[in-house]
Amino acid sequence: MDVVVVESAEEVAREAASRVTDLVRRHPTASIGLATGGTQLGLYRLLTDVYRRGQVSFADNQFFMLDEYAGILPTSTNSFQHVVRSEFLNHVDAAPRSLHVLDGTAHDLHAEAQRFEQILRDAGGVDMQLLGIGTNGHVGFNEPGSPPNSRTRLVRLHDDTIASNAPYFSSPAEVPRVAISQGLETIMKARSILLMAIGARKAKAVAEMIDGEITLECPASILQGHSGATVIVDSAAASLLASRV
Ligand code: F6R
Repeated sequence: MDVVVVESAEEVAREAASRVTDLVRRHPTASIGLATGGTQLGLYRLLTDVYRRGQVSFADNQFFMLDEYAGILPTSTNSFQHVVRSEFLNHVDAAPRSLHVLDGTAHDLHAEAQRFEQILRDAGGVDMQLLGIGTNGHVGFNEPGSPPNSRTRLVRLHDDTIASNAPYFSSPAEVPRVAISQGLETIMKARSILLMAIGARKAKAVAEMIDGEITLECPASILQGHSGATVIVDSAAASLLASRV
């Protein structure tokens, strides 16, 4: 796992955007796993800017969702597929059917998780998976206690995740309690992983991910075992690291 510490959230986004655009220029048909959350927004804005300047094309890429709330309509502003379309894909030349979604409104969510996992396998996995990290060390919605051999499945959100995501809803009661998420093993199959973390509220989880043991209590610590994982953090998120890298 490589760790890159930069000064600001803006630089985290810039560093990540340069790695994504490098990949897409070298490998125009690369498949990319897309995350949501506030951390990703700066990256999506910069990728849109680079596209508008004519410096990259996403026309031949395939995109895969990392996770999705259960029971939220795809048209809702809280739907993760809505977020990646409205913040990124709708502003670039991504092909209309290039986003492989997790349908949180599917009648059978277990079957939906398996369908997605199969599509991912048939596509040969992703070349780059984008990730954020929860204050409790989650990646995707793999909450503490998630098994390392987990695949895409139905998950129950922890209270701190519900609290973190409550500002996006009219009240904490509105936050779905259940979601579909790629599993830890699914994420670890990605050929490369780019995790971004910004802000002091992530410092403890970042330190546990990088300096701690690989434990179920910090799901992100599993990334220590991925040779193609890069973690990009700002100085606030890096403030509890044993050695600033
Ligand atoms: C979102 C996701 C989550 C977030 C994490 C950080 O698709 O899977 O793991 O990446 O909760 O969220 P923010 O960036 O809002 O702090």
